[in-house]
Formats: sequence, C-alpha cells, structure tokens
Amino acid sequence: MTIETTSLYGSKPEQYAQLLAQARGLMHGEADRTANAANLSSLVFHALPDVNWVGFYFFDGTELVVGPFQGHPACVRIGLGRGVCGTAAATRQTQRVADVHAFPGHIACDAASRSEVVVPLFKGDTLVGVFDIDSPLPDRFDADDQRGLEALGHAFLDSLGG
Ligand code: SME
Repeated sequence: MTIETTSLYGSKPEQYAQLLAQARGLMHGEADRTANAANLSSLVFHALPDVNWVGFYFFDGTELVVGPFQGHPACVRIGLGRGVCGTAAATRQTQRVADVHAFPGHIACDAASRSEVVVPLFKGDTLVGVFDIDSPLPDRFDADDQRGLEALGHAFLDSLGG
C-alpha cells in the first residue's frame, strides 16, 4: 500500500487545512494510539519546513514518557510542570515558545532546538499526553502554526475514539 501525501500549497492556513486532511486520511478507521502517533509524527516532520523534532509524550499516570517521534533521541521522562512539555500538560495551555533558551526550566533534548510548540492532549479531563514540535530557528512558529498544530492534535485525540 502506498500512502499518498502531496506537497502543500497556498497560504499557511490553507496548508494546515491540507495537512489536517492528510492526517485524518492516515488515521481513518484506526484507533491505535501508537500507530496514529507514529504516522502523524512522520507526516508533520516531513511536511513542515525547519523542524528538527516532532512527536508525542504520553502520560503514564505519573509523568510524561516519550512516545513515537521523528528526530534525534529525546529525554524519556518529563515531570508535570517541568520544561515546555510539562508546563503544557500542567496548565492545559498550548505553549508557543519563541526562544527556548529564555523559557525557565526548558529541557534541552536536542541542542539544536531554538523554538517550540507543545499542544496538550486531553480527553475531557483526562491527560493523554502532549504533541511537541521543535525548530532549529528562533521564533519559527506563529499563531497560524499554533492553530494548525492544535487542530492536528485534536484530530489525533478524535482518532482514539471514546
Ligand atoms: N524541550 C522540551 C523537551 C522535549 S524535547 O524538546 C523533544 C521541554 O522543555 O519540555
């Protein structure tokens, strides 16, 4: 089976709409968390310019544990409230960080990362994990990126059912 993904075109919101459609296509009819997180990480990593790490951390009931991703090997466990990922999980707010070096407690897994978006993933009140996207460029992500990445995170949550 060949998975079709086409290049993105148009404005940034249009490109994210195309990426969202591709993501929904990849996850269609599949509720397995690992499978969908793996394919979504690959899709986004290859579609977006200037990203060096795209992936998931899942909550194990105590802390965040690295899940499927694309990029260099990463820190395995992150406590709630720690770093950008732990802050997104603890506050339930997307973290869009223009300069990770200026973020108190930032956890440098890949020294190349300069800016970062972390989308918290909640099913109702239950923390599933976070969706983390890093760039080697400072201030890589704007509000359109945030909205587009949040929509992808929500599509992932929808794919899990329940
Ligand atoms: N920088 C993140 C850690 C995860 S890695 O970037 C993959 C943080 O501060 O939570």
